[in-house]
Amino acid sequence: MFLARHTPSGSAVAVVSRLARPSVAIQQRGLATSSDAPPPKKTKFGGLSDQDRIFQNLYGQLGADLKTAKKYGDWYKTKEILLKGHDWIISEVKASGLRGRGGAGFPSGMKWSFMNPPGWEKGTTPRYLVVNADEGEPGTCKDREIMRKDPHKLVEGCLVAGRAMNATAAYIYIRGEFYHEATVLQRAIQEAYADGLIGKNACGSGYDFDVFIHRGMGAYVCGEETSLIESLEGKPGKPRLKPPFPAAVGLFGCPSTVANVETVAVAPTICRRGGSWFAQFGRERNSGTKLFCISGHVNNPCTVEEEMSIPLRELIEKHCGGVRGGWDNLLAVIPGGSSTPILPKNICDDVLMDFDALKDAQSGLGTAAVIVMDKSTDVVRAISRLSKFYKHESCGQCTPCREGSKWTAQIMERFEKGQGREREIDMLQELTKQVEGHTICALGEAFAWPLQGLIRHFRPELEARMASHAQASGGSALAGGWEHDARLKGKLIAPGQ
Ligand SMILES: Cc1cc2nc3c(=O)[nH]c(=O)nc-3n(C[C@H](O)[C@H](O)[C@H](O)COP(=O)(O)O)c2cc1C
Ligand code: SF4
Repeated sequence: MFLARHTPSGSAVAVVSRLARPSVAIQQRGLATSSDAPPPKKTKFGGLSDQDRIFQNLYGQLGADLKTAKKYGDWYKTKEILLKGHDWIISEVKASGLRGRGGAGFPSGMKWSFMNPPGWEKGTTPRYLVVNADEGEPGTCKDREIMRKDPHKLVEGCLVAGRAMNATAAYIYIRGEFYHEATVLQRAIQEAYADGLIGKNACGSGYDFDVFIHRGMGAYVCGEETSLIESLEGKPGKPRLKPPFPAAVGLFGCPSTVANVETVAVAPTICRRGGSWFAQFGRERNSGTKLFCISGHVNNPCTVEEEMSIPLRELIEKHCGGVRGGWDNLLAVIPGGSSTPILPKNICDDVLMDFDALKDAQSGLGTAAVIVMDKSTDVVRAISRLSKFYKHESCGQCTPCREGSKWTAQIMERFEKGQGREREIDMLQELTKQVEGHTICALGEAFAWPLQGLIRHFRPELEARMASHAQASGGSALAGGWEHDARLKGKLIAPGQ
């Protein structure tokens, strides 16, 4: 992947000059010629031009129909892409550096290649691409835009990604609330069938491929890939233990891969324009263009396609008309959907929007759903509200998640009012650490991380609240249960105790 990025476009010249040099020069790396030098490192990111935007109808100025989609480049030479075969498609996706857009950021080319282990062709079962259109992470609204404005990007993406995995069909699992999106998408699928683009002999390539939509019921946990598979099979949406991974035992026990809508929808453009085209955007290991959804206290909330690694501040000021009341009125930002830890203004000043930069800042790119909070925000209440959400969405299989999400929501409800003692902040932190890594799925982390972010950056705010509550009520609040003899002393004040 990176070889492609750093090889100068006139690579033939580079090859000739390398061959012409004496062999000793090749061995002594210190004698590099100018043709050996890597191209200057890109240091500025952002400002994607219109011709480099994959999603050209994000704002719905054009139709979502097949004729318009074809006019703007969809379904162009799809047959040729299919005929190049799975290895070629996967190598282009690998060269593009595409990382999954569903939140975890796993390299997509590698993930898709797990569907084709040696001897895969001897298998007799169907094989599935499962498209994750559940989009349940609060703040995220990008897959929805693709499905209702640019549905053919997704349908064609299913075919191309499906071919890469040698899948027989794609199931698009769409959250139940997206009624309109499901309707538009279904229409696009029907158009594609009627035009011979999917179905038997898709695009005249000799490859048979079906696309189905399945509507979910709006449970957040059904976005987790194995839970989604369970739900598709008609069972309660409870995550499975891994291994086995879906590529070995997935939907209906068959080899399957779950991929996010955006990940799948960019695949045809990557194949048409080349992996190296996509890889030129963003920093190393973080390449490509990306849909960012910015909400909260900005003048113009929007979903926009930008270059990966764009500075957060530029993203907000260029596309959202800035923070309400100006940049100095910024309190904090949740950069990647509600499960990613909050970042205070001083970090937001110069953080880049990509997987690695946000990880280094002890947060994450997640779904790239940027939630902006200005100084009017009650940050404790905001995070407390998220705790309630995660408590409600826990499927209850694992004790640390089932109990922990309930306890933390209760604690946060008290903290909102300042009812607590400083040492309870440490207890809360410890509790979140006990959950992390001890659950079947990542919902455990999803409820733990926002709390850790709050404590990391806004502990003085929590302490100040406790101090003022203590002052107003004549003493520190009692949490209930922390002192072993609290009941005997008649100190318990928690409701119902
Ligand atoms: C609780 C939970 C909810 C999730 N919700 C979604 C979702 O709504 N959409 C999504 O694409 N991925 C979601 N994921 C991530 C998926 O499990 C999976 O990693 C992703 O769909 C893989 O696609 P990608 O490789 O294209 O990123 C969720 C994960 C967890 C743990
Ligand atoms: S972590 Fe939570 S949501 Fe995930 S399987 Fe366990 S109980 Fe269910």
